[in-house]
Amino acid sequence: MEGAFMFQCFFFIALAIFSYLLFKHNSKASKTESKLPPGSLGWPYIGETLKLFSQNPSLFFDSRYRRHGEIFKTHILGYPCVMLASPEAARFVLVTHADLFKPSYPKSKETLIGPSAIFFHQGNYHSQIRKLVQNSLSLNVIRSFIPAIEFIALSTLDSWCNGTVINTFQQMKKFTFDTAVLSIFGELDSEFKDRLKYNYHIVDTGYNSFPINLPGTLFRKALLARRRLEGMIHDKITQARERKWEQNNLLTCLLNYKDEDGQFLEDNQIADNIIGVLFAAQDTTASVLTWIIKYISDDQDILTAVEREHKALYVSSEGGTQTSLTWAHTRNMPFTQRVISECLRMASIVAFTYREAVIDVEYNGFLIPKGWKALPLFRSIHHNPEFFPQPEKFDPSRFEGVQKPNTYMPFGNGTHACPGNEVAKLEMLILIHHLVRNFRWELATPKSGDCGVQYAPFLIPAEGLPAKFWKKSDAKGHA
Ligand code: HEM
Ligand SMILES: *[C@@H]1O[C@H](CO)[C@@H](O)[C@H](O)[C@H]1NC(C)=O
Ligand SMILES: *[C@@H]1O[C@H](CO)[C@@H](O)[C@H](O)[C@H]1NC(C)=O
Repeated sequence: MEGAFMFQCFFFIALAIFSYLLFKHNSKASKTESKLPPGSLGWPYIGETLKLFSQNPSLFFDSRYRRHGEIFKTHILGYPCVMLASPEAARFVLVTHADLFKPSYPKSKETLIGPSAIFFHQGNYHSQIRKLVQNSLSLNVIRSFIPAIEFIALSTLDSWCNGTVINTFQQMKKFTFDTAVLSIFGELDSEFKDRLKYNYHIVDTGYNSFPINLPGTLFRKALLARRRLEGMIHDKITQARERKWEQNNLLTCLLNYKDEDGQFLEDNQIADNIIGVLFAAQDTTASVLTWIIKYISDDQDILTAVEREHKALYVSSEGGTQTSLTWAHTRNMPFTQRVISECLRMASIVAFTYREAVIDVEYNGFLIPKGWKALPLFRSIHHNPEFFPQPEKFDPSRFEGVQKPNTYMPFGNGTHACPGNEVAKLEMLILIHHLVRNFRWELATPKSGDCGVQYAPFLIPAEGLPAKFWKKSDAKGHA
């Protein structure tokens, strides 16, 4: 644990110094100091990075929010940033003035995911790709996934019941990977799927490592695995073009698309977007599912209410004889929906997002200089008692009412809002359904005794929430 922490510190200091030197080169923004938002830019070399990463990030943001209000400046990883902690400010950057801000990601992430992937773009290319991704994940398409997702959920849950303590997050990642692959490629042969899994796992490991491209580093291995993935996707594209697949999935949506000039997308644009959607889909949904297990385990009343809802489902609709889920069933789980909404709020795994001002922008009398980062702070908004009374209390009943606009944005808002939100919610409903109907579990104490949280890369419970599962039909503790 401590070794990992030291490494993280080293990592952030090194990165901060690097980026500070870079920033010093091309910053002319300091002349306009007078109109900048309040806040400290911190000790110049390291900015406030160390403070941010040495304490709970919500404490970091909250104390500044209390001191400065909805908008304040700081330095993170050497970049000057403007933090936005009100619904109005988030709406300004993400929705009403989205064209003044472009997405902003570290170069290393762009290289690993692929520069043509949807997240990195703005304007015409972005909206073309976005329509295709949205179509491939529309309600009409995803309702046809239910039987396949159920099958993946049940076989994943079955595989946990061998008497050992599992890492819930790592196991949830298997489930969310398989469902993402399903929505991207449709049904695949197991040989292709295994190679996909193998290479993607290496890319995933490299994504969360120090980004130096030297022989032997995880990052270099990830780049090589990425090249193999691109080759595999290229083969699939060639196959699909020959066979004229009729299936409705992301691959075929991207393949069949022609722009106004009759141009198809290039193979590398298709590959980058497929790898991009895998990235966007897997860790996010797995982190939220892990939090759901944690929250429903911690509150027996809520767990009982969830169980009751799922038990009643078949009885009410089919006289108790039906055994597989329909679309209508999944639309009839209001309590579970509220539990999921409350988990998304509490955990706020996408705590904030990054944009970069493309010109000098003025918001509410404050200047956001060109080139500065603008960060809408979703987590701070979701934990503001003004919008969510007693914000640290897990209370699904908050979602019986409607939320005020831009106070609840677990999936973002505006031009880059999550196109996968419906499929993510569907996956979670299906997994919970089978979990509470057919399985029991017990949380285990993490080996370190640490009941806190960790980043992987999103916030998750310590050690991925170790737990032991068994089938309801089996006696407890059979192994
Ligand atoms: C519970 C799980 C998920 C959460 C909390 C989540 C959250 C988000 C958020 C907050 C954004 C906006 C980021 C920004 O504005 O910078 C986003 C974008 C995106 N998400 Fe999700 N997401 C989830 C699952 C998924 C799934 C399952 C998919 C695909 C199957 C997906 C695909 C995407 C894509 C492609 C984008 C980029 C959209 C664009 O740039 O136009 N997400 N997600
Ligand atoms: C038990 O199942 C988990 C999850 O599938 C697996 O990782 C682990 O290796 C299995 N352990 C044994 C002893 O079979
Ligand atoms: C997104 O912004 C629009 C415009 O302000 C608003 O009507 C909508 O409710 C917002 N969405 C969310 C999820 O807050």
